[in-house]
Amino acid sequence: MNRNRIALLYVAALWMVGVSVAEAAPVDTKDAIVIERGRYLTTAGGCGDCHTPLKMGERGPEPDMSRMLSGHPEYLQMPAAPALPEGPWMVVSSATNTAWAGPWGTSFVANITPDMETGIGKWSADDFIYTIRSGRHLGRGRQILPPMPVPAIQNLTDEDLTAIYAYLMTVPPIENHVPVPIAPGAAVVAVGN
Ligand code: HEC
Repeated sequence: MNRNRIALLYVAALWMVGVSVAEAAPVDTKDAIVIERGRYLTTAGGCGDCHTPLKMGERGPEPDMSRMLSGHPEYLQMPAAPALPEGPWMVVSSATNTAWAGPWGTSFVANITPDMETGIGKWSADDFIYTIRSGRHLGRGRQILPPMPVPAIQNLTDEDLTAIYAYLMTVPPIENHVPVPIAPGAAVVAVGN
């Protein structure tokens, strides 16, 4: 190959890179930055501490990443929560950290993967923002129960909540029906939402 031809190929390669950068990068890069910010906030915000079930590993309980952010595992039927003795204890939680019983009854951690039927796949970014801001399902449904840290994360900006939403839409969708909550005092575990 002579020098001219190499130079020509080089120019052609640059031109192609230039075109693809000019056409694709602005949108993709912006999305990628928002998603990465959402990943950062979701991780540092500890969403997975509750939304990813724990399993028993060699060194003790560890997050079951095969069920990442999918909430209380549907296979785990919980017996009625144990009654606590008089005194300053208030809450019990399951070994998975996804079922919680306290004065509000028993709540089950939600599936926040983008699964269409059992997760938040059908939610818009606004649905997500309204839910977190109001502490009500989709901004108008029933109140979201403890220990979901609504009082803390409702302080995030729209921008940050949008980023968390954008990230959640990119995680693997996991089909997992989470039980509806049980009112205080009720003994039966209802399954399915
Ligand atoms: C301490 C445990 C805990 C942490 C940490 C937590 N959640 Fe939750 N979350 C819950 C529980 C429990 C529910 C279900 C409450 C209910 O059924 O009323 C829930 C429900 C939700 C819902 C569903 C609401 C609905 O209406 O269906 C969303 C969305 C959500 N959490 C997002 C998040 C995000 C984002 C984070 C991290 C910033 C987070 N959660 C951190 C426990 C937690």
